[in-house]
Amino acid sequence: MKNAISGFLHPSALILHPLLCARGCVTIAHVELDTIHCDDSRYMREVDDGSVQLIVTSPPYNVGKDYAQHHDAMGLEEYLAFLNVVWKECQRVLCRGGRIAVNVANTWRKPYIPLNGYIARQLIDLGLQMRGEIIWDKGPSAGISTAWGSFARASNPTLRDVHEYIMVFSKESWKLEETHSGESGIENLEFVEWTKSVWRSPQEEIEDSQRSVWQFDTQSRRSQTPRLSAGRNAHSPAHPTPFPLDLPLRLILLYTNVDDIVLDPFMGSGTTALAAKMTQRHYVGYEISREYCDIAQQRLAALEHPPVIEERLERKKKSRQGNK
Ligand SMILES: C[S@@+](CC[C@H](N)C(=O)[O-])C[C@H]1O[C@@H](n2cnc3c(N)ncnc32)[C@H](O)[C@@H]1O
Repeated sequence: MKNAISGFLHPSALILHPLLCARGCVTIAHVELDTIHCDDSRYMREVDDGSVQLIVTSPPYNVGKDYAQHHDAMGLEEYLAFLNVVWKECQRVLCRGGRIAVNVANTWRKPYIPLNGYIARQLIDLGLQMRGEIIWDKGPSAGISTAWGSFARASNPTLRDVHEYIMVFSKESWKLEETHSGESGIENLEFVEWTKSVWRSPQEEIEDSQRSVWQFDTQSRRSQTPRLSAGRNAHSPAHPTPFPLDLPLRLILLYTNVDDIVLDPFMGSGTTALAAKMTQRHYVGYEISREYCDIAQQRLAALEHPPVIEERLERKKKSRQGNK
C-alpha cells in the first residue's frame, strides 16, 4: 500500500502537467509536484512515464549506516539487485533527453568495491547513455579516516578516499528535448567551472550559508545568496549522509531549465528538494523513513526567501542584448 504523507501535498500539487516540448508537441505528464512521498522508490507509482527532466540522487551506502528504516548492510548482489529496481523506475520516469546524476562513494574496503563502476554498468545496461563522471573533491570537509593500514610502512598502506563520484547519464537523446522553458539561470562563469570534470566542495558552504553555490555570482552576489532561516541546522540536518547543498544546486542549474521537474528517489533530508526550490524548479521525492521525510519538510519550510532566479535571468537577457 502506498503511504504518501498527505500533509506534504500542496493543494495544487496534483495536477495534469502540460508540457510543450521543444519539438512543438504537447504532452501531458501526470506528476504530483513539490511532493515528498514517504514511501519505497522501487515503486514510484505517482510519477508518470517520461515526466521528469532530472534525477539527482545518492543511494544508501550499504556500509551499515544507521538509517531509520533502511537495512544498510546487504550483500553486494542483493544491494545491486535492490538498486537496479530503483534505476528501472528512474529510467521509466525520465523524459526523452532527461538526465540522471548518481552520487556515490566507494566506501567498501577489503576488498575495495568500485561501486561507481557497478552502478554505471547497471545504468548503461538499462539503455542510458553515459555523459561523464564528475570527481567531487571533498577537500577539507572529507573527514579523512585515520585507518592507515600500516602507517609509514610499505607492508599494507591503505588508501583513504577524499573524493566521491557523480555519474551523469541521458535517456535516449543527448539533448534535453522536453523542457518547460529555455532558461536555466546558470551564469557563464558557473558554466565554465561546472563543465569541468573535477568539482571542489566549497568550504564556505559548510561553514556559512551566506556563501554557497552563488559564489560565482560576481555581479550581484548579495541579492542572489540563498537565505536559510534555520541557519546551520538547514545545512547540517540530522541525517547520517546528507550531500552538500552545492551538489544538487550545480546539477540542477547545469542540466535543467526553470519549472522543470527534479526527482530524488532517495530523498533523505531533502537536499535535492531544497536545491530545486531555490532554483525555481519543481521537486518530487521518495524517502522510506518518516523521520527523514519530516526533516526534509522542516528544511523546506525554513527556506523563507529563495533566491530570485528572475534576477539571474534578467542579467542574462541584458548581457545577450548587450552582445548584439
Ligand atoms: C545516502 S541517503 C540520501 C541522503 C540525501 N541525499 C540527503 O542529502 O539527505 C539514502 C537515503 O535513502 C533512503 N532509502 C533507503 N531505501 C529506500 C527506498 N527503498 N525508498 C526510498 N528511500 C530509501 C534512506 O532512508 C536514506 O535516507
